[in-house]
Amino acid sequence: MIKMPIPCRRCGSADAEVYIPYARLSLCPECFRDFYVKRIKRTVEEFRMFRTDDRVGVAVSGGKDSTALLHGLKEAFPNMEFVALHVDLGIEGYSEECREKVEKLTEVLDVELEVYDLKEELGFTIDDFKRTIYRRKICSACGTVKRHIFEVLAGRVGVKVLATGHNLDDIVGVMLNNFFSGNWSQLVRLRPVLEPVEPNQTLKVKPLITTPEDENLLYCLYSDLPFREENCPHAHKERISRNREILEFLSKRNPNFRHQMLRNFLKLIPILEEAIEKPKYRRCRICGYPSSSDVCAFCRRVELVRKAKGMNIKTEKA
Ligand code: AMP
Ligand code: FES
Ligand code: ZN
Repeated sequence: MIKMPIPCRRCGSADAEVYIPYARLSLCPECFRDFYVKRIKRTVEEFRMFRTDDRVGVAVSGGKDSTALLHGLKEAFPNMEFVALHVDLGIEGYSEECREKVEKLTEVLDVELEVYDLKEELGFTIDDFKRTIYRRKICSACGTVKRHIFEVLAGRVGVKVLATGHNLDDIVGVMLNNFFSGNWSQLVRLRPVLEPVEPNQTLKVKPLITTPEDENLLYCLYSDLPFREENCPHAHKERISRNREILEFLSKRNPNFRHQMLRNFLKLIPILEEAIEKPKYRRCRICGYPSSSDVCAFCRRVELVRKAKGMNIKTEKA
């Protein structure tokens, strides 16, 4: 049987290529891109992520999410200034491609790019954590390192707002994990807007929090954007696919499941925040950044990896 093309529900002239199940919309590529960009704009405005006269840093990894984010933000706010921030993690067979794609993307979009090269600046790479007690949880050490470096980069280029490409599936997946394990303090950190601990730190925003992951990929493909295709060799494939399966199963029965869960969770946040004891921050003895302990999580990991490599321990002061 020959399947007849369906016309796009928005423009009515072009053939639909994308079906958005939770909105019951069949769209042509152009109308899909418009739908995608308008949602970014709405999300930024709804959660008051930034003002149009702010200069905004965008953490771009070279993956589909943050690639689509940078392009989508530029389309949604054409008169704003965005600065791309990239951390070269030095992961063999992976980081080089990430950096190349980010360099290409920012060149095409004419966006300023600031890169932090871990190997050049700190003398180690994320792969070096293989020699430490983090060998089975490299992603976790990498996350701590990245979060710290984002602040360093933001300080270097002078931005007070930092946007990341966390998408709806990421957030709902991590939400489920933290909910099952009763990790309430981490759950609260999944907010669309995270206030800085200190005035000289960044406001962290997630403009893709309402965007399903597969739509980021489609947006990159339809906009012909350069993004890396390799996955990080340290990613826990099993754990990721287990979460994905649960989410896919629940979303198949109810296409609105992820959006509903996010909305309900956002209502719960103020209640959770009241109930959770807030950590008391002081300054890390080594780097001077805010920390809940004498030496911050970043400096402790740097110390470990440098010891494992037989290096001297010294970190840049904030
Ligand atoms: P992940 O924690 O790897 O899922 O990444 C979440 C978000 O953090 C991405 O969407 C990016 O915005 C940002 N990010 C991750 N890795 C990097 C990197 N190496 N350089 C810059 N930003 C990154
Ligand atoms: Fe950090 Fe994979 S990107 S461990
Ligand atoms: Zn520190």
